[in-house]
Amino acid sequence: KRVAILISGGGSNMLALVDSMTGDHPARPVLVASNDPQAGGLRKAEARGIPTAAVDHRPFDTDRAAFEAALAECIDAAGPDIICLAGFMRILTPGFIDRYAGRMLNIHPSLLPKYRGLHTHARALEAGDTEAGCTVHEVTAELDDGPILGQARVPVRPDDTAGTLAARVLTMEHRLYPAVLRRFAQGDRSRLDLA
Ligand code: GRF
Repeated sequence: KRVAILISGGGSNMLALVDSMTGDHPARPVLVASNDPQAGGLRKAEARGIPTAAVDHRPFDTDRAAFEAALAECIDAAGPDIICLAGFMRILTPGFIDRYAGRMLNIHPSLLPKYRGLHTHARALEAGDTEAGCTVHEVTAELDDGPILGQARVPVRPDDTAGTLAARVLTMEHRLYPAVLRRFAQGDRSRLDLA
Protein backbone atom coordinates (compact mmCIF):
# COMPACT_ATOMS: atom_id res chain seq x y z
CA LYS A 1 0.00 0.00 0.00
CA ARG A 2 1.14 3.55 -0.85
CA VAL A 3 0.89 6.04 2.02
CA ALA A 4 0.83 9.86 1.84
CA ILE A 5 1.34 11.74 5.10
CA LEU A 6 0.12 15.32 5.67
CA ILE A 7 1.88 17.45 8.27
CA SER A 8 1.96 21.06 9.46
CA GLY A 9 4.99 21.14 11.73
CA GLY A 10 7.83 19.04 13.12
CA GLY A 11 6.28 15.79 11.94
CA SER A 12 7.27 13.52 14.83
CA ASN A 13 4.24 11.34 14.08
CA MET A 14 5.18 11.31 10.39
CA LEU A 15 8.66 10.10 11.33
CA ALA A 16 7.25 7.37 13.55
CA LEU A 17 5.06 6.20 10.65
CA VAL A 18 7.88 6.40 8.08
CA ASP A 19 10.34 4.58 10.31
CA SER A 20 7.77 1.81 10.94
CA MET A 21 7.32 1.05 7.22
CA THR A 22 10.32 -1.24 6.79
CA GLY A 23 10.96 -4.90 6.00
CA ASP A 24 7.79 -6.92 5.31
CA HIS A 25 5.51 -4.00 6.22
CA PRO A 26 2.52 -3.91 3.81
CA ALA A 27 2.85 -0.15 3.26
CA ARG A 28 5.47 2.37 2.24
CA PRO A 29 5.57 6.19 2.26
CA VAL A 30 5.22 7.82 -1.18
CA LEU A 31 4.68 11.47 -0.18
CA VAL A 32 4.98 13.84 2.75
CA ALA A 33 3.03 17.08 2.14
CA SER A 34 2.47 20.16 4.24
CA ASN A 35 0.42 23.36 4.27
CA ASP A 36 3.58 25.11 5.49
CA PRO A 37 6.65 25.18 3.19
CA GLN A 38 8.77 25.76 6.32
CA ALA A 39 7.47 22.71 8.17
CA GLY A 40 10.45 20.99 9.79
CA GLY A 41 9.01 17.60 8.93
CA LEU A 42 9.52 18.26 5.21
CA ARG A 43 13.28 18.44 5.74
CA LYS A 44 13.24 15.22 7.76
CA ALA A 45 11.27 13.44 5.02
CA GLU A 46 13.70 14.69 2.36
CA ALA A 47 16.59 13.39 4.47
CA ARG A 48 14.91 9.97 4.23
CA GLY A 49 14.54 10.24 0.45
CA ILE A 50 10.76 10.60 0.58
CA PRO A 51 9.13 12.89 -2.04
CA THR A 52 7.68 16.03 -0.46
CA ALA A 53 5.28 18.79 -1.44
CA ALA A 54 4.14 22.01 0.18
CA VAL A 55 1.00 24.00 -0.58
CA ASP A 56 1.13 27.19 1.44
CA HIS A 57 -2.42 27.82 2.67
CA ARG A 58 -1.85 31.51 3.35
CA PRO A 59 -2.21 32.85 -0.25
CA PHE A 60 -5.52 30.95 -0.35
CA ASP A 61 -6.74 32.38 2.94
CA THR A 62 -10.11 33.43 1.56
CA ASP A 63 -10.47 30.40 -0.72
CA ARG A 64 -10.30 27.13 1.18
CA ALA A 65 -11.58 25.15 -1.79
CA ALA A 66 -8.73 26.44 -4.00
CA PHE A 67 -6.17 25.49 -1.35
CA GLU A 68 -7.66 22.01 -1.08
CA ALA A 69 -7.75 21.61 -4.87
CA ALA A 70 -4.02 22.38 -5.02
CA LEU A 71 -3.32 20.01 -2.14
CA ALA A 72 -5.42 17.23 -3.67
CA GLU A 73 -3.52 17.62 -6.96
CA CYS A 74 -0.22 17.00 -5.10
CA ILE A 75 -1.68 14.03 -3.24
CA ASP A 76 -3.28 12.43 -6.29
CA ALA A 77 -0.05 12.80 -8.28
CA ALA A 78 1.56 10.42 -5.76
CA GLY A 79 -1.29 7.91 -6.14
CA PRO A 80 -1.65 6.95 -2.48
CA ASP A 81 -3.92 4.18 -1.21
CA ILE A 82 -3.95 5.67 2.30
CA ILE A 83 -3.63 9.26 3.55
CA CYS A 84 -2.43 9.84 7.12
CA LEU A 85 -2.99 13.23 8.75
CA ALA A 86 -0.21 13.62 11.31
CA GLY A 87 -0.10 16.91 13.16
CA PHE A 88 -1.95 18.44 10.22
CA MET A 89 -3.55 21.60 11.57
CA ARG A 90 -5.95 22.70 8.84
CA ILE A 91 -9.66 21.89 8.95
CA LEU A 92 -10.64 20.05 5.77
CA THR A 93 -13.99 20.55 4.05
CA PRO A 94 -16.41 17.66 3.47
CA GLY A 95 -15.66 17.97 -0.26
CA PHE A 96 -11.99 17.21 0.28
CA ILE A 97 -12.71 14.45 2.78
CA ASP A 98 -15.16 12.78 0.41
CA ARG A 99 -12.33 12.35 -2.15
CA TYR A 100 -10.52 10.11 0.33
CA ALA A 101 -13.46 8.61 2.18
CA GLY A 102 -12.60 5.39 3.96
CA ARG A 103 -8.85 5.73 3.41
CA MET A 104 -7.85 8.83 5.41
CA LEU A 105 -6.69 8.54 9.02
CA ASN A 106 -5.95 11.10 11.71
CA ILE A 107 -4.36 11.06 15.11
CA HIS A 108 -5.87 13.27 17.80
CA PRO A 109 -4.27 13.87 21.21
CA SER A 110 -7.25 12.95 23.39
CA LEU A 111 -9.41 9.96 24.27
CA LEU A 112 -12.21 10.76 21.79
CA PRO A 113 -15.06 11.46 22.03
CA LYS A 114 -13.68 13.64 24.82
CA TYR A 115 -11.96 16.91 23.85
CA ARG A 116 -12.45 17.27 20.13
CA GLY A 117 -10.62 20.32 18.78
CA LEU A 118 -7.66 22.09 20.31
CA HIS A 119 -5.90 22.40 23.70
CA THR A 120 -6.83 18.85 24.65
CA HIS A 121 -4.27 18.42 27.42
CA ALA A 122 -5.10 21.69 29.21
CA ARG A 123 -8.79 20.73 29.06
CA ALA A 124 -8.12 17.28 30.53
CA LEU A 125 -6.11 18.83 33.37
CA GLU A 126 -8.79 21.46 33.93
CA ALA A 127 -11.39 18.70 34.20
CA GLY A 128 -9.25 16.82 36.76
CA ASP A 129 -9.05 13.70 34.57
CA THR A 130 -6.86 10.93 35.99
CA GLU A 131 -6.09 9.52 32.54
CA ALA A 132 -5.54 10.96 29.06
CA GLY A 133 -4.34 9.65 25.75
CA CYS A 134 -4.67 9.70 21.98
CA THR A 135 -6.95 8.33 19.30
CA VAL A 136 -6.47 7.24 15.70
CA HIS A 137 -9.69 7.48 13.72
CA GLU A 138 -10.96 7.46 10.16
CA VAL A 139 -11.52 11.01 8.95
CA THR A 140 -15.12 11.96 8.23
CA ALA A 141 -16.76 15.31 7.62
CA GLU A 142 -17.33 15.84 11.35
CA LEU A 143 -14.18 17.21 13.03
CA ASP A 144 -12.35 14.58 15.12
CA ASP A 145 -15.34 12.26 14.92
CA GLY A 146 -14.85 9.31 12.56
CA PRO A 147 -14.80 5.59 13.45
CA ILE A 148 -12.13 4.93 16.09
CA LEU A 149 -9.35 2.55 14.96
CA GLY A 150 -7.23 2.74 18.09
CA GLN A 151 -6.63 4.43 21.41
CA ALA A 152 -3.73 4.62 23.84
CA ARG A 153 -4.05 5.70 27.48
CA VAL A 154 -1.60 7.37 29.86
CA PRO A 155 -1.98 8.30 33.53
CA VAL A 156 -2.34 11.96 34.44
CA ARG A 157 0.02 12.82 37.28
CA PRO A 158 -0.87 15.39 39.98
CA ASP A 159 2.04 17.66 39.04
CA ASP A 160 1.40 17.46 35.30
CA THR A 161 1.38 20.56 33.16
CA ALA A 162 -0.11 20.61 29.67
CA GLY A 163 3.47 20.28 28.45
CA THR A 164 4.41 17.24 30.52
CA LEU A 165 1.14 15.52 29.70
CA ALA A 166 1.53 16.35 26.00
CA ALA A 167 4.98 14.77 26.00
CA ARG A 168 3.67 11.58 27.65
CA VAL A 169 0.79 11.36 25.15
CA LEU A 170 3.05 12.07 22.18
CA THR A 171 5.22 9.08 23.12
CA MET A 172 2.12 6.90 22.91
CA GLU A 173 1.06 8.51 19.62
CA HIS A 174 4.33 7.31 18.15
CA ARG A 175 3.44 3.76 19.19
CA LEU A 176 -0.27 3.79 18.38
CA TYR A 177 -0.29 5.34 14.91
CA PRO A 178 2.25 2.90 13.36
CA ALA A 179 0.45 -0.06 14.94
CA VAL A 180 -2.91 1.06 13.57
CA LEU A 181 -1.49 1.88 10.11
CA ARG A 182 0.05 -1.60 9.84
CA ARG A 183 -3.32 -3.22 10.55
CA PHE A 184 -5.26 -0.77 8.35
CA ALA A 185 -2.90 -1.43 5.44
CA GLN A 186 -3.83 -5.12 5.71
CA GLY A 187 -7.54 -4.33 5.70
CA ASP A 188 -7.96 -4.78 9.46
CA ARG A 189 -10.21 -2.02 10.80
CA SER A 190 -10.73 -3.61 14.21
CA ARG A 191 -10.08 -1.35 17.17
CA LEU A 192 -6.67 -1.48 18.90
CA ASP A 193 -6.34 -0.39 22.53
CA LEU A 194 -2.89 0.19 24.02
CA ALA A 195 -2.51 0.84 27.73
C1 GRF B 1 1.05 17.08 18.53
O1 GRF B 1 0.37 17.91 19.47
C2 GRF B 1 0.31 15.79 18.40
O2 GRF B 1 -0.30 15.45 19.64
C3 GRF B 1 -0.73 16.08 17.37
O3 GRF B 1 -0.15 17.04 16.49
C4 GRF B 1 0.90 17.75 17.17
C5 GRF B 1 2.19 17.76 16.39
O4 GRF B 1 2.52 16.46 16.08
N1 GRF B 1 -1.11 14.88 16.69
P1 GRF B 1 3.81 16.12 15.14
O5 GRF B 1 5.01 16.15 16.05
O6 GRF B 1 3.89 17.23 14.09
O7 GRF B 1 3.52 14.78 14.57
